[in-house]
Amino acid sequence: MTLPTQATITEVGPRDGLQNEKQLVPAPVKIELCTRLLEAGVRRMEATSFVSPKWVPQMADALDVMAGIPRRAGDTVAVLTPNMKGFEGALASGAQEAVIFPAASEAFSQRNLNCSIAESVERFAPVARAAKDAGMRLRAVISVAFGCPYQGEVPVKSVVDVVQRMRELGSDEIGIADTIGVGTAEQVKRVMQAAAAVYPLANLSGHFHDTYGQALTNIYACLQVGVARFDSSIAGLGGCPYAKGATGNVATEDVVYLLHGLGVSTGLDLDKLVDAGQWISAILGRKSLSRVGNALAARRAAQQQADEAHRA
Ligand code: HMG
Ligand code: MG
Repeated sequence: MTLPTQATITEVGPRDGLQNEKQLVPAPVKIELCTRLLEAGVRRMEATSFVSPKWVPQMADALDVMAGIPRRAGDTVAVLTPNMKGFEGALASGAQEAVIFPAASEAFSQRNLNCSIAESVERFAPVARAAKDAGMRLRAVISVAFGCPYQGEVPVKSVVDVVQRMRELGSDEIGIADTIGVGTAEQVKRVMQAAAAVYPLANLSGHFHDTYGQALTNIYACLQVGVARFDSSIAGLGGCPYAKGATGNVATEDVVYLLHGLGVSTGLDLDKLVDAGQWISAILGRKSLSRVGNALAARRAAQQQADEAHRA
């Protein structure tokens, strides 16, 4: 079995991570987080969401955050756009990528988007057209593809149906998301292979939350079937406000450690990611959820102590 030699990471911490914070995180902190991530080599980042502030108050400062993020040629700064109002915000903010986010279960669609899957596709259609007209990249991320907190099991066919609809809308990439982190490796392979039967494998991505501790294993399973695009969140920040009990996304530091260990290049600087992860965790007043981040930070601290003792 040969694994891909290169993987593409989309950093989702500033959006999927911070959207779930109870305390309002000030825009300058969000901007500094994005800046630190870019300095660590991040080239693709979900920065914020243009969603209803009544639904997700934490993302109400989307325009301010977008205005403060340093822009480099070639980077893709993405934002969530549930409808045309969201798309207008995206366009005004200079985002390079619009993200639409249908669900694979009716129950979750109602909770997250206040409409059925079919209605959500109708709302996404003009967003997709407008994104194309504006020369923006269009990405779709399909929630609850491996299990739903309200419905339970989600048939593979339901996921494939939504993949087909997102393909018809012209999605440049389709993410298959484990919103509540319940998927296991063989299931992940089955769903990814079923999706790849109707949509190019090279443009499929995996979005894993680590609620059940399966995320890294599931990423390895994806690599085994040729999926080489992943979303991850610095320090494992995150969760979905409409998926109770869902913990953070898989931590970027952990994913990068795994990939580099497998000889899969990412273009990311692990040391700088660790710095960013430790920094934002300290700001939020808690320990990072990245095992790799904490281990490397502890090793560094021990080394520093030893150096100081040596000098004394
Ligand atoms: P609705 O209440 O049905 O919307 O919500 P509406 O069209 O009836 O409008 C109601 C009010 O919202 C109006 O304001 C609109 O202007 C306003 P009012 O006249 O009452 O003052 N509104 C907006 N305001 C700002 N930006 C907008 C917008 N749209 C309407 N874009 C809606 C429908 C889709 C808007 C709402 O359900 C919503 O915002 N949902 C987003 C929920 C969300 O962000 N969830 C988290 C992200 S998804 C996720 O985390 C999963 C993912 O990570 C993958 C995974 O892990 O599964 C992607
Ligand atoms: Mg998510």
